[in-house]
Amino acid sequence: MRTVLAVIRILIVATAGLSGSLAAAADADRGATLAKRWCATCHVVDSDQKQASADVPPFAVIAQKPDFTPEKVATFLIEPHPKMPNFQLSRSEAADIAAYISALRK
Ligand code: HEC
Repeated sequence: MRTVLAVIRILIVATAGLSGSLAAAADADRGATLAKRWCATCHVVDSDQKQASADVPPFAVIAQKPDFTPEKVATFLIEPHPKMPNFQLSRSEAADIAAYISALRK
């Protein structure tokens, strides 16, 4: 299961690299590091994580939403959000985290 996810992740990152979109410059591995540092207190950010806040959607669930796009998540992260602390993420950090979340999409 984990291997399959890893392969999917590589494929998505490779595809994003070719498409030349906003997400293309994003680094999903850096996003994973940032997510573990800033988001894991509330969100389940990867399949190894066992605990987070009960009413906060795991990243894997966010990634599955039909209207999910890395661009939307990146924009969402740059704007302050009432229920989330203001992170002061840079544009590129937001794009990296968005790339990481989109890599969780199955
Ligand atoms: C203090 C707890 C907390 C932290 C830390 C936190 N979040 Fe959230 N996040 C929430 C809550 C609560 C919601 C649900 C908000 C809602 O339903 O309006 C949410 C929602 C979201 C959503 C939108 C999900 C949707 O329904 O579309 C995204 C994307 C998201 N968070 C990403 C992140 C990222 C990336 C980080 C780290 C940079 C982060 N969050 C850190 C509490 C948190």
